Parts: sequence; structure tokens; C-alpha cells
Amino acid sequence: MGKTILDYETAELLDNVNKIRIIDQTQLPGRIECIELETAKQFWDAIYLLQVRGAPAIGVFAGFAIYLLTKETGLPKEDTRENRAENFAALRDAFEKKKDYLNSSRPTAVNLSWALRRMEKVFLSCGENDRLTMREIVERLHEECVAIRDEDVEVCRRIGENGLALVKPGDGLLTHCNAGQLATIRYGTATAPMYLGHERGYNFHIYCDETRPLLQGGRLTAFELSSAGMDVTLECDNMSASLMKTGKVQAVFVGCDRVASNGDAANKIGTSLLALAAKHYGVPFYVCAPTSTIDMSLQTGDEIPIEQRKPEEVTEMWYAKRMAPEGIKVYNPAFDVTDHTLITGIVTEYGVARAPYTESLREIFAKKDAE
Ligand code: MRU
Repeated sequence: MGKTILDYETAELLDNVNKIRIIDQTQLPGRIECIELETAKQFWDAIYLLQVRGAPAIGVFAGFAIYLLTKETGLPKEDTRENRAENFAALRDAFEKKKDYLNSSRPTAVNLSWALRRMEKVFLSCGENDRLTMREIVERLHEECVAIRDEDVEVCRRIGENGLALVKPGDGLLTHCNAGQLATIRYGTATAPMYLGHERGYNFHIYCDETRPLLQGGRLTAFELSSAGMDVTLECDNMSASLMKTGKVQAVFVGCDRVASNGDAANKIGTSLLALAAKHYGVPFYVCAPTSTIDMSLQTGDEIPIEQRKPEEVTEMWYAKRMAPEGIKVYNPAFDVTDHTLITGIVTEYGVARAPYTESLREIFAKKDAE
């Protein structure tokens, strides 16, 4: 059998040639095209242009990127203990500038700053250890970015197990945007229960929101889940309430880009409308969130920065010719915040948090710290 989309790595570190290989997601589903990136500008553009996207995948990609950019800064000729203070100061300067640059590519998904901060922590702690040469520090950064990648696979699998326990064979499951394998390294978050259920013969009926304006549901989720052999039905965003009303949906699973400590969750625009409909029709609404996406420093979702994108995404993209009047004002936020009161549970790798989230999310982090 030929390769399917699931056989490709969302983001792959090519350490021997100092590049990152990604599937260019803007070309899907028409063309599976892998591109190799090596400069800071290419890395920044890949995130901004959504060639690599989805909160966890952005985090993994940023880890690879800051490692390669630090390595590229060049190891000093005299990488000795005598020159160490001077060498480290120069490397730190380069590291911080590149970290800030990468961090400016998209504002909402906290995994970007989370991964960069995690890399920075390793970098600075190595700086305090005066036995390490610059070459060894760069090697520690390599180990850390590979660890972020490997953990992502394990975290998604655990979210899948925890999510699968919430549903039963034959259920209709609805999802929005793409919180799938293409948004992570494997399994996805919202799709992880679907992948695991599929392996175990659950015969789910998956409903997949098209997801205006960038069609991540229609282009990506419908593509990857049907490639995996699942029973997938595509529908426009404004059809979800009708599916719920007619009893076709037993649970909604969505991903998220940032969760505040009170459980408010930012995800792809349209998610909060879905949550409102689910509440009305009594359909459980689950947000799947790796702990790397939970930002305990924020009290509520009002503090989450929301990315605004270009008007052309609404007025022109996907149409043979422009469909809206020239000069019309356009509202195009990439994400919205679902109020915690609409969320039945937040599915993490450490279990399912339920209201009151201020307490249950704290308990999730206590479990994580104890592990
Ligand atoms: O703009 P995108 O395509 O990056 O938005 C992605 C989403 O909203 C996902 O649901 C979210 O990042 C979770 S991915 C596991």
C-alpha cells in the first residue's frame, strides 16, 4: 500500500543538515508536499502562514527551530573554560533574540512560548554550569527539543485513553477545526479518542465541521480521519446544531490553544458557538488539552490574546472570484474563548478536569508535579 498522510511526520528535525522538514499544510488535501526549512525567517513564516499549525505542533516546531538557530550561531573557535563567560554571553544574546523573534509569529497558542521557555530554562541552567562547553550546551538543547517531541506523542495517547472512557461504541462524535495528527506529532488531541476507538473497533460516526474561514476541518481533519479509514461526514459549521437536534451527536471533542486557570478555553473561531448549541441540546462538550496548553498564569479567558487575521481570508480565499463587496469591513479573529460554564470536562493527559476548574486544574498540575 502507498504512503498516506498519516505516514508523514508533521514536523521532523533533520539534524545532520540543520533543517526542519514539515508537511506544508496549506497545500492539503490536494497535494502532500514536504518542505525543508532552515532560516529564522522561514521558521517564522511557516508558523504565521499556517504551513505548520495546531498548538502542540507549533510547540514542537519551535523547540526544533530554537535549537537549530542556536547551533547555527556557530560554536566559538576557542570553546574552552578560559573563554567560557565571553562565549556564553554571546550565545545567550543570540538565543534570546531568536527566541523573541519566533515567539512573535502567532499570539494565541501558548505552546509556542511554553516550548521556547522550556528550551530557555535548559539553556540558562547550562549557562550556570561552568564545566559545560558551548558544544555541550547546544547538545543539551538538542536533547530537550527531542524530548518535547517524544512527550507530545505520549501525552496525546494518554488524552486519547482518557477521552475514550467518556464515550461508547457506535457514538456520533463531532469535532471542529483540526486538533488531529496534523496539529501534533501523532494521534492529535481531540482526535486521539477517535484514533484509539478506531483501533479497538468502536465504529464511531465522526462529524467534522468545515471550519470557516481557513477550512482546517474540511481540508485537514476530514482528510486525515478518512485516510485512517474512519466513518467521517463533513458538514458546514452552521449545520452542527441541526445534527445535535436530531440526536446524531453524543459528544463534542475539540482541541484548544490556551486554557485559563478558570477553565475558559481559546480554540478555533466557532468553537464557542458549538459549545452553546451543545449545552442547549444536552450534548457533552469536551476540550482536549495537554497541560502544555493550560496557562495557569491567566485568571480568565479575557486575558488570552486573540490573533486577528487578514480580511482576504473571509472575502476571497477559496472562491473563484472575490465574493464580498470591495471595501467591506471584515471581522476575522482566528480564535474565540469558550466560557468554562459551557465545558463538560477538560481532558488532559493526567485525567479529566471538571468544574470548578480553578480547583480541578490545580489538581491536574499537582498530579503532573508528583509524577
Ligand atoms: O489556526 P490553527 O489551525 O493553528 O488553529 C488550530 C486550532 O484551533 C486547534 O484546535 C488547536 O490548536 C488545538 S490542536 C491540537
